[in-house]
Amino acid sequence: MNRVENRNAWEAASKKHVHEYRELLEQARNSSSLVACELELLRPLLASRPVVVHLQSGHGLDDIALVAEGARSVVGVDFSSVATLAAQRRADELGVDCRYVVAAVPGVPLRDGCTDLVYTGKGALIWLRDLEVWAADVARLLRPGGHLFVHEGHPMVPLWTWDEDEPRIRPDRGYFERSHVNDTFPGNGAVEWQATLAEIITAVLGAGLELRHVAEHPEPFWKWDGLDAAAWRGQLPNTFTLLARKRS
Ligand SMILES: C[S@@+](CC[C@H](N)C(=O)[O-])C[C@H]1O[C@@H](n2cnc3c(N)ncnc32)[C@H](O)[C@@H]1O
Repeated sequence: MNRVENRNAWEAASKKHVHEYRELLEQARNSSSLVACELELLRPLLASRPVVVHLQSGHGLDDIALVAEGARSVVGVDFSSVATLAAQRRADELGVDCRYVVAAVPGVPLRDGCTDLVYTGKGALIWLRDLEVWAADVARLLRPGGHLFVHEGHPMVPLWTWDEDEPRIRPDRGYFERSHVNDTFPGNGAVEWQATLAEIITAVLGAGLELRHVAEHPEPFWKWDGLDAAAWRGQLPNTFTLLARKRS
């Protein structure tokens, strides 16, 4: 599946953000979408009121939370016009300094060195075929001394079944495969790209960024409503956080 088909799949899937507009607005108003493992790393960076670029910004709730935690402003970049329109409307209604650009990642149409912090994740990297090109684009966007922060699904996650009795490995998936067909969300047979944790780290290092932190976490960043998969109960990695810095 190429970028056009993926984009069409996301335009359709993002209608959820429009249907749930009010619910998400109240969520953004009353709670933070940033979880503890994110805040621990982000708070020291947000203390200096950075300008943030959020790649693959989706419904934009993280952008509202980033501003609430100290970001001066956030530019969200996403190739779904449905998602960016809903995110812009929500930020405007809450009076939060977020601006959205409809564009594909990598190849972001923002100037070199425009940001102090690139924030991304929560289901973003699996849509990118070439992480070396992505990491180069991130490095280009960062000012010297700026940071890349990623909170993402762990590359092992495609292997876990959602069985509730005990965790199992899907026999049709492999950690070292290049891709698999998504059979849950956003559906339509969309192809998700796979990269190992080592490959993700190597892409970041290859772009000249300094690695400051990598950690693996048992909590997933997202749960299917009403499901309590055994793979989410603490035994297995479900997310990772990564912080890297562009040399001054
Ligand atoms: C699972 S969502 C996560 C978004 C965001 N982190 C959130 O929590 O709402 C993935 C997002 O990536 C966007 N996306 C996927 N591939 C993209 C690409 N190549 N360029 C720009 N946006 C892309 C989709 O439109 C979607 O909004």
